[in-house]
Amino acid sequence: VAFWVTPGNGRAPGLAKIRRECVNAGVRLALVAHRLTSTNAALTAWPAREPLWSWLTPEAALATLVAGDVALGRLDVLPTLDGVDDGLWALGELEARGVQLLNGASALLACHDKHLTARLLEHAGLPHPKTSMVTPGELAPHVPSGAVVVKPRFGSWGQGVVRCDDPSAVPDLLAALEDAPWFRSSGALVQQLVPPLGYDLRVVVAGERAIGAITRVSPPGEWRTNVALGARRVATEAPLDARELAVRAAKAVGADLVGVDLLPDGSGGWTILELNGAVELTRAYARSGDVFALAATELARAVTQDVPARGSLAAVPSA
Ligand SMILES: Nc1ncnc2c1ncn2[C@@H]1O[C@H](COP(=O)(O)OP(=O)(O)O)[C@@H](O)[C@H]1O
Ligand SMILES: [Mg+2]
Repeated sequence: VAFWVTPGNGRAPGLAKIRRECVNAGVRLALVAHRLTSTNAALTAWPAREPLWSWLTPEAALATLVAGDVALGRLDVLPTLDGVDDGLWALGELEARGVQLLNGASALLACHDKHLTARLLEHAGLPHPKTSMVTPGELAPHVPSGAVVVKPRFGSWGQGVVRCDDPSAVPDLLAALEDAPWFRSSGALVQQLVPPLGYDLRVVVAGERAIGAITRVSPPGEWRTNVALGARRVATEAPLDARELAVRAAKAVGADLVGVDLLPDGSGGWTILELNGAVELTRAYARSGDVFALAATELARAVTQDVPARGSLAAVPSA
């Protein structure tokens, strides 16, 4: 089993130290995903000549990673909105083998399954709109009162996200979903509407740090803030309260790299809307510096902090 050195002086190690320790200990840092999205490509291309992280498919990761290596799970929701990319099982198998997981299976599921997200945020006492789960054929589903939003349990890109200002129209809306394959396979969520103000704030957390943020501004006539629906990304310095809330949300679901979407609550605070476990980043996320470099370094640090040093095993109590 390969181990490497935890910084003893309380200061975060820099890139050169992390790389030296990985090389010395023979540790591989692998990003596990089916597709080399632009974010996955950028994360695995930094720094240019000797990237810290490499890209492996779940199958390739199973064939190559050994105990002591590190895997960052980057599986996304399916375009069909009825679940997660195949491969959560592979992340579990890697973990059982002694590979250290960042964004492991449980963290990814906690982000992608919005029903699970709601329950975990509730358990952590964090602000999140009241959310109920509705399954096909349910005769008298319990739904939050007032205006609501109906959405796929495993959703993305704003697809299938419907606003319903009139509570008496909810039963008809749910009845109309009975033919949707995603609803039949995994159900829908009915969630209290947070009165839309035309924008939201996405804060990216890596390790235990908020490393970047963006404001998403809905286009005219659209209440949803998804870029896929025409929202504009505006470079933003997230306020401290939003950064702290995002870090707490990431912790509540056990995620190491996550985009936390915050909606303004109308009274100066924020409510957590969702956590994006396979968040896609652009350069605009960091006002200064390189958000991909920050993420790659912060994630490597998150690992070094948990791992006892091979050379100092004797000094680590019952390691
Ligand atoms: N409960 C809600 N209150 C207000 N706006 C919401 C609510 N749920 C969703 N929205 C809007 O719809 C968008 C898409 O919903 P979201 O739950 O993030 O699903 P997706 O995973 O498809 O992005 C959000 O970015 C937000 O603008
Ligand atoms: Mg969203």
